[in-house]
Amino acid sequence: MADGWQWDATLFQGAAPHYERGRLPYAPGYAATLAAALGLDHRSRVLDVGCGPGTVTLALAPHVGEAIGLDPDPGMLAEARRRAELRGVTNVRWVAGRAEDLPGDLGTFQAVVFAQSFHWTDRDRVASAVLRMLPPGGAFVQVGEVKTPQPPVYAAIGELVRRHLGPVRRAGQGVLVNGTPGREDLVLARAGFGPVERIVVPAGEVIDRTADDLVAWTFSRSDSAPHLFGDRLADFEHDLRTLLGAGPYPERLPATEIRLWRSAQHTYTYAHTEEADDAQ
Ligand SMILES: C[S@@+](CC[C@H](N)C(=O)[O-])C[C@H]1O[C@@H](n2cnc3c(N)ncnc32)[C@H](O)[C@@H]1O
Repeated sequence: MADGWQWDATLFQGAAPHYERGRLPYAPGYAATLAAALGLDHRSRVLDVGCGPGTVTLALAPHVGEAIGLDPDPGMLAEARRRAELRGVTNVRWVAGRAEDLPGDLGTFQAVVFAQSFHWTDRDRVASAVLRMLPPGGAFVQVGEVKTPQPPVYAAIGELVRRHLGPVRRAGQGVLVNGTPGREDLVLARAGFGPVERIVVPAGEVIDRTADDLVAWTFSRSDSAPHLFGDRLADFEHDLRTLLGAGPYPERLPATEIRLWRSAQHTYTYAHTEEADDAQ
């Protein structure tokens, strides 16, 4: 956990309805790339920890026998369920809980995936638990965006959030003085995993983001989730919409970074293309 910060259940409270619209999609084909890298098939089970609205769970479902999404936020799980029903996906299961509850009684998985969620967990404890849930060759997987410079509008939104919520990043009922922790490589090595394999799936398309998209992006984040504004939520949204005007805001979609750590009992030889980037 981040220095002096305590996890609590309000971390993403109210963010779920804004998530699908606000967050940029992962790169096309990333789930197929991951499935091929791990040799997943209809016999495979995958667990998506911190699944949010089920983005990665649902993308992996066609490649496996069963995909389970785990998340502590009831709004996120309701959204995941809604999206699965809408798409007619039946080989998924949604479980309420925290990564710290693992292994629980969920069984073993060919892949345990964290997409922009591992940094919210008690990482050493969770990495050790995940290692025990993997068969030989199974993988601890992280999915995220390759960091690229953001269009200037994001800095302006950040400034407005700080004007309303104060200068230090908020997270649930606490504050993150030093941001969220990095260097997963060290955490996973301590837990007994082998070296990292990094795969970058390119995206690159430029899309026009509307003001509504950027409002949704703002409310989808833990540091500007709706609950943080209390009874000043409408004032904040008014100021945000004034700042954004009509838009649109063109933005290049980021590439998706997949990092795999296979369980050390089954170490492979890796072709590294670049050093792993641990910034989150
Ligand atoms: C940034 S969202 C990522 C959602 C999704 N994985 C994606 O890539 O779109 C982080 C998610 O992690 C969940 N989360 C936060 N702390 C967690 C914990 N300790 N254990 C499991 N999930 C957690 C949050 O509820 C939230 O849904």
